[in-house]
Amino acid sequence: MTVRTKIVGTGSYLPERILTNVELEGVVETSDEWITTRTGIRSRRIAGPDEKTSGMASEAARKAMTMANVAAEQLDMIIVGTISAEMVMPSCACLVQKEIGAEKAFAFDVSAACSGFLYALEIADRYIRQSPELKILVIGAETLSGKIDWQDRNTCILFGDGAGACIVTGSSDENGLIASQLYSDGRLWELLSLDAAPRRYCPVVDYGNQPDQKSLCEGSAFKMVGKDVFKYAVRKMGDAVEKLLNEQGMTVSDIDILIPHQANVRILKSLAERVGLPFEKVYTTIQKYGNSSAASLPIALDEANREGRLQDGDLMLFSVFGGGFTWGVGLLKW
Ligand code: ACO
Repeated sequence: MTVRTKIVGTGSYLPERILTNVELEGVVETSDEWITTRTGIRSRRIAGPDEKTSGMASEAARKAMTMANVAAEQLDMIIVGTISAEMVMPSCACLVQKEIGAEKAFAFDVSAACSGFLYALEIADRYIRQSPELKILVIGAETLSGKIDWQDRNTCILFGDGAGACIVTGSSDENGLIASQLYSDGRLWELLSLDAAPRRYCPVVDYGNQPDQKSLCEGSAFKMVGKDVFKYAVRKMGDAVEKLLNEQGMTVSDIDILIPHQANVRILKSLAERVGLPFEKVYTTIQKYGNSSAASLPIALDEANREGRLQDGDLMLFSVFGGGFTWGVGLLKW
């Protein structure tokens, strides 16, 4: 009997605060027209001081649990894809566990930038293939508004905050994750990076020519070589889609819907063109929510699901690309 990992509930949470392109014109030297034509983004959501990554993740999780009719006590595992948790320790996943009361679950985060949700889903899939009765909460959640340099117009216009979640469990019917493939190439890390908090001063270390605490704290920001990220994202996701479909004996015409990481509408159009998928089959939320990194795919999935866009038996592709570089694809029967 084939066991597949089936998504039985989805949920999402978006901060109320909408930041429009026009408003951004007052923050950096930019224009609504530039942002819209280069990225497709018209607005994004920004977390308020009380909207932490784990809190947004918990709200999305509650909605997914309600849809799946799964109680917190029934969860066996919680995995959160994030690069912007409010704490390094404990993990965002442990804070979610506490928040929703999932006492039986073990919980951990996955750091794979914008690919974090698919990485987390793939890990859940490996467990479920071994133990189909498991119920796993998979989340992507980010508060990148707190990580970017709001004076850097190259990056600050791109990102938004939010969280998306799903509940997965084993299923013996045909529906569920058919295959997924993940990739990384650390050699290209400098094209897209985000420093961790700087190292704190230690009195027994010889710091050479940067002796004071202030100089140790400099340089922490989001860095991106936009044109290269664009090029690699299209090429790597395109190649991965083609390889996965080939291996499954399918062609792109079999696909009903592509739910990608929402990086930039031009990346998505180029990807669709490269693999030969009509753009109408690409589900986008980027215009409303910007790029919310690991949260973007599960937010889009939840919206597509709640809108009734997903029909029983639909063949669906996931595609992701992010810092690392990391990337991957997934093929599901809904
Ligand atoms: N407003 C106005 N002008 C701007 C802005 C802005 N916000 N940002 C840059 N510019 C200027 C540049 O300074 C440059 O000016 P110059 O010619 O005088 O030097 C000009 O616009 C063109 O800049 P480019 O970087 O060449 O613009 P490009 O067409 O490459 O678009 C963009 C930039 C949108 C970042 C594009 O490269 C891109 O989409 N890259 C992908 C990056 C991405 O999606 N990152 C998300 C994170 S990674 C991920 O999620 C996969």
